Amino acid sequence: MATVKCIGILTSGGDAPGMNAAIRAVTRAAIYNGLAVKGIYRGYKGLVTGEIKEFKSQDVSNIIQLGGTILKTARCKEFTTPEGRQVAYDNMKAEGIDALVIIGGDGSLTGARIFAQEFDVPCIGLPGTIDNDLYGTDTTIGYDTALNTILDAVDKIRDTATSHERLFFVEVMGRDAGFLALNGAIASGAEAAIIPEFSTEFDQLEEFIKSGYRKSKNSSIVLVAESELTGGAMHYAERVKNEYPQYDVRVTILGHLQRGGSPSAHDRILASRLGSAAIDAIMEDQRNVMIGIENDEIVYVPFSKAIKKEKPINRELVNVLRKLSI
Ligand code: F6P
Repeated sequence: MATVKCIGILTSGGDAPGMNAAIRAVTRAAIYNGLAVKGIYRGYKGLVTGEIKEFKSQDVSNIIQLGGTILKTARCKEFTTPEGRQVAYDNMKAEGIDALVIIGGDGSLTGARIFAQEFDVPCIGLPGTIDNDLYGTDTTIGYDTALNTILDAVDKIRDTATSHERLFFVEVMGRDAGFLALNGAIASGAEAAIIPEFSTEFDQLEEFIKSGYRKSKNSSIVLVAESELTGGAMHYAERVKNEYPQYDVRVTILGHLQRGGSPSAHDRILASRLGSAAIDAIMEDQRNVMIGIENDEIVYVPFSKAIKKEKPINRELVNVLRKLSI
């Protein structure tokens, strides 16, 4: 039998569409199981400053469709120090919180792992990031919505690229992962994707130009994953201007619009299932795991694996893109 009576929930790091659906699911599943729920505002910062409020079922009404996070989010410096974490722990105890559910990406789950180890606090993580870069789950909350936002943008860019017969480099987010760029390229019918995973393997621009896209097309769209490893879209536009001046090149950086918007059905369902499973995990006395979904099954992934193990790019997708962009 679980000894937890009250859980705290927070969202941390970059926001992602579907975080609200996850807050709703965790809150409702906890109340359904007889647990009290406290919402912690502004990520770990709220634990340090004591911005904490009791959540009832109606506090999470009408939020499943909203982008962003009603709990706000932040990247908290104090929580990276032992002193800051001690204050956070003291506040948590003063509020009667016995366990935490953390919705966030890599950095947020790293914070959870350290906190759990230091103070023996049960922490359950939910993968919330548009980057899809957490190991042990097929997709992360927000990734599907961000992909759809990219498609919407690329479809529009395609119109002007075709009219002017131009080569467009469209930069998408992903931090150091190429999931948004690669799958965004496949789904939008783009001609290529430049991703960090291949940056040290070969010259992706050269490969694209040498593939001879001009043979059958007068315009092209290349999705570039932001990252120090790729150098970003501007870098490739400069290179084309210098090395292949015959091309009329333009750049679009999609930026933070990829983080907003109403979550897709996929992200709402994912967030609801993961949120509900987070409470199952607490009731089963699980601790220090991220909840994921792999092959449609709920899985518990130790923080150490979710954060540290690199999630590989599926090479079959790369081949599909190559074949279909001739
Ligand atoms: O991790 C999500 C993400 O949107 C990354 O794709 C991006 O690199 C980063 O956050 C941007 O962070 P910020 O909103 O702090 O500029």
